[in-house]
Amino acid sequence: MSTVTAFQLADILYTGAGALGKTPESLKAAGLKKPLIVTDKGIVKVGLAKRLEDVLSAAGLSYALYDGTVPNPTDDNVGEAFALYAKEGCDCLIGMGGGSSMDTAKGCGVLATSGGTIDAYRGMGLLKARLPYFIAIPTTAGTGSESTCAAVITNTKGDHHWKMVLLDGRLLPDAAVIDPLLMTGLPPFITAATGMDAMTHAIEAYISVAAMEYTDALAIGAIKLIFKYLRRAVANGNDIEAREKMAYAQTMAGIAFSNAGLGLVHSLAHPLSAFYGISHGDANALVLPRVLDFNKIACREKMAEIARAAGLADLGPYPEDTAVEALRRLSADVRIPATITEAAARIGVKIDPKDIGPMSKDALNEVSTPTNPRVPTLADIEALYNLCW
Ligand SMILES: [Fe+2]
Repeated sequence: MSTVTAFQLADILYTGAGALGKTPESLKAAGLKKPLIVTDKGIVKVGLAKRLEDVLSAAGLSYALYDGTVPNPTDDNVGEAFALYAKEGCDCLIGMGGGSSMDTAKGCGVLATSGGTIDAYRGMGLLKARLPYFIAIPTTAGTGSESTCAAVITNTKGDHHWKMVLLDGRLLPDAAVIDPLLMTGLPPFITAATGMDAMTHAIEAYISVAAMEYTDALAIGAIKLIFKYLRRAVANGNDIEAREKMAYAQTMAGIAFSNAGLGLVHSLAHPLSAFYGISHGDANALVLPRVLDFNKIACREKMAEIARAAGLADLGPYPEDTAVEALRRLSADVRIPATITEAAARIGVKIDPKDIGPMSKDALNEVSTPTNPRVPTLADIEALYNLCW
């Protein structure tokens, strides 16, 4: 039997080529004067921040800019962004970039209206107030952060780094600007990693124990689009049709998982990023086929739908295995590392199998674990890390 559910997304999605131009209109309509742009140095370097600054200036709006966000953003990023927000007398926020920048902006907004430090708000529904007016502008496709009620911030204050997940409907942006023209410059490896993150969102939302009709429709739609267009977006960044479809797919996947939750893929991926700095997308993509092999006995029919969404003519005697194989093949085609060892070697970090114990404990306690379709034990998670090693 269904339970009563609130289905939420950003108040407005400005979507399509050139949507960036809608940003000032949205701020002015809300009577706002000075946003803090939260972004990273890469977005500044490639000129995307300048495009936003020009749009704001042309509309007569002033702004301040924080560009210190790092991948897997930290509690320090959030504190620094908020210090600048307060010092500059800003009255609203724009998060521009990948999930890291948008999540740092969300964290900054939490400190602006709820006060204290960000670790106090880890968990479900703990904010004291709405954020200041907040616009999210993704430049990857993507994390879906522009359409989610989640923020993930790395805690750097304990004996090891770990990811704090904040879940609260008030983290949803007031407006999201989804403009594929901001995504054409993404290099292939980031297109691949962020695209597989979006795929993981869609799949985990689809097989989540909290899935519902609305989230299923968005999730399976996103899975189809990503199977069809991710390879093209990786092969040619200027393929505007592929970029546009991927932009829509990541937002659909974001809305789906924000309402249905995620699962064990994200639970295992977060410690890999926190311990070793493996990118979120790569961590998800390399864990995905192994976790689906583990999950498949709980969700055979939905796994068969995923195989159908891959566009395969022959689903074979075990369509759930065909779905896993189609995902493994997609990851390989877009050159995602296949193992933890390979991912670590690419970024030059040392890994140690002794970390599997603490990483598994963190994974079991992750906020995404309870919506996984198959209930895992600590030993199951350790075995999965060993398989991915
Ligand atoms: Fe993700």
